[in-house]
Amino acid sequence: MVIPNHVAIILDGNGRWAKKKGMPRTYGHIKGCDNLEKICGVAKDLGVKYLTVYAFSTENWKRSKEEVDGLMKLFRNYMKKCLKISAENKMRVRVIGDPTAFDEDLQQKIKELEEYSRQFDELHFQIALNYGSRDEIRRAVTALAEDVKRGELEPEGITEDTISGYLDTRGLPDPDLLIRTSGEERLSNFLMWQLAYTEFYFTDVEWPDFDKENFVKAIEKYNQRDRRYGGVKEESHV
Ligand code: FPP
Repeated sequence: MVIPNHVAIILDGNGRWAKKKGMPRTYGHIKGCDNLEKICGVAKDLGVKYLTVYAFSTENWKRSKEEVDGLMKLFRNYMKKCLKISAENKMRVRVIGDPTAFDEDLQQKIKELEEYSRQFDELHFQIALNYGSRDEIRRAVTALAEDVKRGELEPEGITEDTISGYLDTRGLPDPDLLIRTSGEERLSNFLMWQLAYTEFYFTDVEWPDFDKENFVKAIEKYNQRDRRYGGVKEESHV
């Protein structure tokens, strides 16, 4: 079985999972967080080198104050806990998205975790927080325009690689496989540039229940796809 080098996951269904159990949505997020911890270990054991997850989108601020507060509390605790998880899994952690909207102490915890985990490279784990693909591209274009204005870059010299180099994911390979849990089949503003050639896998399983068996199933499905042309088949040009 070929193991995809980079797997991206849209963590969806925590709320529905909790509702079915008669519990508040925040309980679903807590269980989703526990599952994320497990899945990092699973990814590493399977030989996945890069794992990128969508944990909080630029749209998620619109949720109820109670839910947003619950998620912020969860992120705070997780950043601390993740120091240990990163050491256990020899995992380098990066946060993609715009962290400046978060409280100062959370931004600080993110920085500490990124700094501490720089020493590891067995698994590269990216957490998308306050992330939106359009916002990422907007921020990249702004930075690029500033470099052009400063004379550090010629407009004629801008290649696809130049643009990739301004994104939050600079230096990381594009995902080979995208998994979305919980039955929705949308991209929801996630990694739109980076997913150009990625295989998509959708499952009805809600995120807190997504386990090793489901992960392997997604990889098996990925193996049945024809990736000979890097995802672009010659026939598609006919
Ligand atoms: C989607 O479920 C999930 C989220 C918006 C939050 C994802 C967060 C976690 C898994 C928590 C842990 C993450 C980190 C990095 C600590 P939903 O609420 O949209 O579920 P629903 O579609 O059933 O309502």
